[in-house]
Amino acid sequence: MRLRQSGASWIVHAPAKLNLFLEVLGKRADGFHELETLMVSVNLFDTLVLRQESSTQISLRCHYAGCVSRKVAADSASASDEVPDGQDNLAVKAAELLKKKTGVDKGIHIELFKRIPAEAGLAGGSSDAAAVLLALNRIWQLGLSRDELQRYASEIGSDVAFFLSESPAALCQGRGEIIRPLKKAPRLHFVIVKPDSGLSTVAVFRQCRPEAKPRGASKLAEYLQRGDLTNAGQHLFNSLQAPAESLNPDVSRLIKEFGRQPFVGHMMSGSGTSCFGVCRHRDEARMAAARLKALRLGRVFVGETSS
Ligand code: C5P
Repeated sequence: MRLRQSGASWIVHAPAKLNLFLEVLGKRADGFHELETLMVSVNLFDTLVLRQESSTQISLRCHYAGCVSRKVAADSASASDEVPDGQDNLAVKAAELLKKKTGVDKGIHIELFKRIPAEAGLAGGSSDAAAVLLALNRIWQLGLSRDELQRYASEIGSDVAFFLSESPAALCQGRGEIIRPLKKAPRLHFVIVKPDSGLSTVAVFRQCRPEAKPRGASKLAEYLQRGDLTNAGQHLFNSLQAPAESLNPDVSRLIKEFGRQPFVGHMMSGSGTSCFGVCRHRDEARMAAARLKALRLGRVFVGETSS
């Protein structure tokens, strides 16, 4: 994630993530689940424009860019991409948390341009929060280390710390907040489809059972680091996919159609409902995307690992 200054404004592009692997290992006393996950960031971005305020208020205005939409028809079962623009927005929570932790008494206005769909398993809100932590550390000259920022990040949400790591791919443990960046990973090309319906993360986790015999992500990490996509494709996994399929028929339909495409591998991301296919080249991804678009399964994105 890079921060750029333009006049009085600071601009940061916040990427989405995909879980190439997500294994639920157990339920914890704090209500969360112990995980092992391998995440990569992808070049589907929200954009945040931050401007210092003379007041000490944190404010946010959300714009719906690209193919996400604020409203859906009242009679539709579709999920809206609308995100909260008050205290419940994770970007606002991040700014408030930094004020509380550091005692700084400054304000900020955030213009948030949403392109990452909500309830998609792509962690758009978490990425926005990480972008705010990174930006305010600079704008407010807080001098916090990456470790300190990652500690604060994990108080906001399990996925936030990943976006502060310098690597586009990482093995994550604990709730997802313990990050081990992969030293090297090939550039991966993806087709991502987000059906109109969404899923609540809480509901999907509630439905899942920890794996009796965990397989672990180390094999996948090894194949990725070697650039062996064929074998990497065989080791994609997500413990949350079966529960998500049982809760949402759109996910089952997507997975079935993805299975008919010549992907290296395919899987649902996070708690859904987005599914992705891994391709060797951008052209391969574009062709698969065109075929999936014709099936009208949802919004189709072509992307790659973001550096
Ligand atoms: O951390 P985050 O706020 O993103 O988590 C949202 C919800 O997902 C949690 O309230 C919890 O129900 C579930 N969750 C979990 N175990 C994790 C991460 C999330 O049970 N490791």
